[in-house]
Amino acid sequence: MPLYIATRLIVMGCCRLPIPIGVVSSGASESRASVILYDGMERVVKNESLVVIRNKNGGDVLAICRGGRGVNDNVRTASFTPGIAYAKTGRAPSSVKEFYIFNLEIIGMIGENGLEQNKLIIAPTSLVEMYVSEDDPMKYLCKSDLTIGHYWAEPRWRVPVLKQYINYHIGIFGVTGSGKSYLTRYEVIPLLRKAGYSVIIMDWKGSDYAPYFENTIPLDQVKVDNAVVLRYFSQLTKNFGYLEREENPVSMAVEQALRRVEWRGRPPEKAREMIYQHARMVLEQNSRGVKAETFQLWIDRLNSSFELITEEEVERFLGTIEPWQILTMAKERGIVVIDMSKGEKEQKLAAFYSIARYLKRLMENKQKLDVALVIDEGPQ
Ligand SMILES: Nc1ncnc2c1ncn2[C@@H]1O[C@H](COP(=O)(O)OP(=O)(O)O)[C@@H](O)[C@H]1O
Ligand SMILES: [Mg+2]
Repeated sequence: MPLYIATRLIVMGCCRLPIPIGVVSSGASESRASVILYDGMERVVKNESLVVIRNKNGGDVLAICRGGRGVNDNVRTASFTPGIAYAKTGRAPSSVKEFYIFNLEIIGMIGENGLEQNKLIIAPTSLVEMYVSEDDPMKYLCKSDLTIGHYWAEPRWRVPVLKQYINYHIGIFGVTGSGKSYLTRYEVIPLLRKAGYSVIIMDWKGSDYAPYFENTIPLDQVKVDNAVVLRYFSQLTKNFGYLEREENPVSMAVEQALRRVEWRGRPPEKAREMIYQHARMVLEQNSRGVKAETFQLWIDRLNSSFELITEEEVERFLGTIEPWQILTMAKERGIVVIDMSKGEKEQKLAAFYSIARYLKRLMENKQKLDVALVIDEGPQ
């Protein structure tokens, strides 16, 4: 028993939290208040300090200190006073009538289920107490094991996140270098994982995620739709020499070749040759009843096009990993990074669409995917 009393005394004597810092001044409303600080507290209370107002009219109100000022009527500058005369002659005016005030931004009243709108007028002279590191005021925001980041200058005060909101789109905006990717890497992705999501990361630059996670797939290993490959070749060759004419015999022949030939997963020179030969064969088949010079024009345009469709160009599209395999990998291993650093804009977009379209289709079939798609930089 004595031991119990002793413990109580210690708790009450030196660890009372949060600590009293002052009282509410005149003129407070339900949404605005100022605190007159106890002597010396002006060296403790800071901009962004988190406080609780013990409202004499009822309720505990959470608020933030923003905008402080020191007041001393002796040195008021609107008119000449003895204090100013003192200061003018280089002497120290009296600080007896000096006091400090902090504006308080009201967050809300602490209710049973978290914060509520504060509707009661805050009574002047209500006690104001400041939370210190040992407190855990974040619990008033909501109750959740999921957290992200922490309150300003208080690493222990992790900010809770409600699981049901993670399902929504998350946007992170900021100027270059403000820490968007860093935040995503170290806070958002771990949060998503803890909330039970698998994560597929499209690392546009290849430097923000690929070096930091285990399972990485280079862009050129991702399988891209034939339609996208054809569009890319079309752009490269100005519609296979037909300029404005999107539909033309050479384009159709190449399209058939891409569809019919097993060119993926082969060495680039072999794949290129296979596509070329098949397209040429298609043109020959289609040339019956066509004038000799027209057929010759087709072949010329096919040949010129394949001068531009080099091995390097074909190599971009030799990937065989399909979207469903990427999803399976994410499900099994938790996180998969697509390293998109080596690739043209069209190729990046192609892989992006391929994966996004596949996931969308699954979602439209009402499948519960529990997959988060992280797009950093992205297709602007
Ligand atoms: N919270 C942080 N602590 C320490 N370094 C950081 C933090 N946030 C960002 N950085 C560093 O600042 C730089 C820019 O961050 P980054 O996330 O790449 O910015 P952004 O993606 O917005 O352009 C990087 O070198 C990163 O390591
Ligand atoms: Mg970035």
